[in-house]
Amino acid sequence: MSPALRPMNAADLDQVLRIENNVHAYPWTRGNFRDAMNSHYLCQVYEMDNEILGYAVLMLAVDEAQLLIIGIAAAYQRQGLGGRLLGEIMNAARRLNLQRIILEVRPSNVVALGLYRKSGFSELALRRDYYPSAAGREDAMVMEYLL
Ligand SMILES: CC(C)(COP(=O)(O)OP(=O)(O)OC[C@H]1O[C@@H](n2cnc3c(N)ncnc32)[C@H](O)[C@@H]1OP(=O)(O)O)[C@@H](O)C(=O)NCCC(=O)NCCS
Repeated sequence: MSPALRPMNAADLDQVLRIENNVHAYPWTRGNFRDAMNSHYLCQVYEMDNEILGYAVLMLAVDEAQLLIIGIAAAYQRQGLGGRLLGEIMNAARRLNLQRIILEVRPSNVVALGLYRKSGFSELALRRDYYPSAAGREDAMVMEYLL
């Protein structure tokens, strides 16, 4: 079996949060995921054999979307799954007739930057001192992909 996307629901949150707390330095909380689901964002899990391998949340606005979060469980990273998950999210956005996906990423997150560049995202702008960080504040790179 290969992994497949399906909508995230409340019963998934224990598994999703276990991954999220493990892979993100500034993890989303249960409340963040709940709010995203209640706001009808596109919240998807990437699942194989009843095991959640990853997830992504896309905030939809008129004809564009913002990728708010994406994660792959540590044990499954670096096997191409992040790229496949992002590709499926991009296809879902296309099916919704969206025109572009934007996202913000810490320039220090070289793995995510590599993933986005490889998936065809280009750099749009730098937001100075956008994120909290160990050193105080960190910039955000804004990237876009035209669908
Ligand atoms: C970012 C993330 C989703 C990538 O998932 P993944 O399954 O490891 O990614 P893939 O195996 O599909 O790799 C895709 C590309 O990302 C880049 N990449 C992945 N791991 C990398 C690493 N350790 N170092 C540098 N680049 C890396 C590469 O460009 C890679 O392509 P390649 O394998 O052909 O070289 C995963 O690392 C993750 O969950 N990270 C923590 C959460 C996070 O930072 N999310 C993004 C911000 S919300």
